[in-house]
Amino acid sequence: MQIIRELGPLRNALQNIRQEKSTLGLVPTMGALHAGHMKLVETATAQCDVVVASIFVNPTQFGEGEDLDAYPRQEAADAALLEAAGVELVWAPTVDQIYPDGFATNVSVSGVSAGLCGGSRPGHFDGVATVVAKLFNQVRPDAAFFGEKDYQQLAVIRRMARDLDFTHDIVGVPTVRDPDGLALSSRNAYLTAGQRSQAAALPDAMRDAAEAIKGGGDVTSILGEAEAKILASGFHEVDYFELRNADTLENMTVFDNPARLLAAAHIGSTRLIDNIAVT
Ligand code: PAF
Repeated sequence: MQIIRELGPLRNALQNIRQEKSTLGLVPTMGALHAGHMKLVETATAQCDVVVASIFVNPTQFGEGEDLDAYPRQEAADAALLEAAGVELVWAPTVDQIYPDGFATNVSVSGVSAGLCGGSRPGHFDGVATVVAKLFNQVRPDAAFFGEKDYQQLAVIRRMARDLDFTHDIVGVPTVRDPDGLALSSRNAYLTAGQRSQAAALPDAMRDAAEAIKGGGDVTSILGEAEAKILASGFHEVDYFELRNADTLENMTVFDNPARLLAAAHIGSTRLIDNIAVT
């Protein structure tokens, strides 16, 4: 497995790969890989002849006071996992390969970026859309794989790909969860043992709320009760707990298909997000 950090060698390596293999899958990551990322790689290797993974902690998607410096970096361990999973090339660019001197372009996706994490993390999805557009242009995959765990991110990327004529497939991969239901996330590593056991209250509340909504209960009251339950279980702030249209992410106050519950809440110094289908 090659690890490449500069665009010239990346282009040469991709040209060689393209001569031998017909379909190329891209798994974009910020490293600190866990079983959720490896599920993306597994899905990509099942669907494509060759898989390229990128590791780039993208500074433009971190807001002021967010955890860019503290974000876990463990490239050697990540590379070992990717190699064992059959990845052929790791694209681990230096910052200047993504944002060269004088970089002045911003990809901003309106609509699906509004509210939810877009509300609590201003500018975050511009950073995501910009870096993902760059990665798509640099690697030119036939398919790119993203976790449903970051459901709004996936919607932003799908919209951006349609709008900017990226014609490759955007594949959403279901969330991987620990046995108690907590969605896997690099940020779970920040939780103390006590917070880790309390954190399962988030998926619990989401599951209960989804059942109550499907049962025909009043959506606004159910969402309010779910927030209260989370706050009583060790979380100290809920950024949002909302029912949205699963495709457009428009707000929903009366249940209709397709629907998705999305939530973000703070426990200790960690902000956790999650989402589930309500069908
Ligand atoms: O989901 C992530 O890890 C990042 O947001 C992504 C898509 C790799 C862009 O930096």
